[in-house]
Amino acid sequence: MIGKIEDPTLRSFAKALFEPIWESFKKGVAAKNYHHAYIGGLLQHSANVGEIAYNLARFYNLKTDIVLLGAILHDIGKVWEFDIFPKFEHNSYYSKLGHIFLGAHYVREKAREFNIPKEIADEIVHIILSHHGEYVRGSPVLPKTPEAMLVHLVDNLDAQMNHILMKNEKDR
Ligand SMILES: [Fe+2]
Ligand SMILES: [Fe+2]
Repeated sequence: MIGKIEDPTLRSFAKALFEPIWESFKKGVAAKNYHHAYIGGLLQHSANVGEIAYNLARFYNLKTDIVLLGAILHDIGKVWEFDIFPKFEHNSYYSKLGHIFLGAHYVREKAREFNIPKEIADEIVHIILSHHGEYVRGSPVLPKTPEAMLVHLVDNLDAQMNHILMKNEKDR
């Protein structure tokens, strides 16, 4: 997914974000029960949202670099929210800070270090902050850009599809 980012600075920015947390990111879970609740689930969910949102961004003629970054980073805060061993458990970051804040904060700090122009950083952070789509679902702001709306909808699509696919597999 990172390879599909066209702007070379944004591509290195994406690499710099994932490098320090790669081990935890690839082992991470996306949720405790509802969707992608297995080792590697966070990586799979993030890659799925990246792939689907990228294709739809092209269809709707949106900014593909912003969509890709927002999509692969939207749940990055989950790296800190769960303990994997001895079993999947929410830790105190889950109850006290939450993945939306954690992810937005991490990306914003790194964007400053990287001298990413403010407007671009804000657009990416906006996608993270608004990806739950509603105040009652924990988003502090609602999707205001087409790129943010797309990532929100695709996030929901991939979560629900995984949920029903896993359920079907269990029931078989
Ligand atoms: Fe999320
Ligand atoms: Fe998600």
